[in-house]
Amino acid sequence: MKFFVDTADIAEITRLAETGFVDGVTTNPSLIAKTGRDMLEVVREICAAVEGPVSAEVTATDHETMLKEGFRLAELADNVAVKVPLTADGLLTCRRLAEQGIAVNVTLCFSPGQALMAAKAGAAFISPFVGRLDDIGQDGMQLIADILQIYDQYDEFATEVLVASVRGPAHVIAAAKLGADIATVPPAVIHALLQHPLTDKGLAAFLADWEKTGQKILG
Ligand code: E4P
Repeated sequence: MKFFVDTADIAEITRLAETGFVDGVTTNPSLIAKTGRDMLEVVREICAAVEGPVSAEVTATDHETMLKEGFRLAELADNVAVKVPLTADGLLTCRRLAEQGIAVNVTLCFSPGQALMAAKAGAAFISPFVGRLDDIGQDGMQLIADILQIYDQYDEFATEVLVASVRGPAHVIAAAKLGADIATVPPAVIHALLQHPLTDKGLAAFLADWEKTGQKILG
């Protein structure tokens, strides 16, 4: 399973990239707005900081302008994946960009039918938002199961399932059990995945006992 980090915070991305846990980055207009910086500069910097795909989202809603924005974003770096919303104009834009060999991440997916259409439009990634479905009392992880089942039926679908709107380690584990290709995860969730109170307690006890021996491995 690949991990993408869901942030536009360059310092955080650089720190996480060094750990080797990060296979790519996703941004969206809200995450870019948080930086208070020029979007094109931020995307360029993120693309230089990681080797994997970096999703950068168009902000127009009509096909013609989306396509122009898509080409502009794609020329920033080889590892840009253009993100388009799951609308009719977005899927037409996806098809045109995919025809030019540009990777497209179709975002704001909330139903299996939408995911099917995105695969038919040649999306490299489909982003179903599990947390936002859970928020309205629906089962976000059931959507992931449904999409994986549909995509598995057809060899011609090369679209990777990128689980988005992840709120905690439980979402990541459930997505991994289902065999989702990728989870895009806020930095705090990546840190939380590493932690367990029994690890901290066990380590403290080992160190206390070691201290009593008066020994040192080094020096
Ligand atoms: C995905 O690409 C989106 O940027 C993101 O996962 C949205 O998550 P949110 O619902 O926490 O805003």
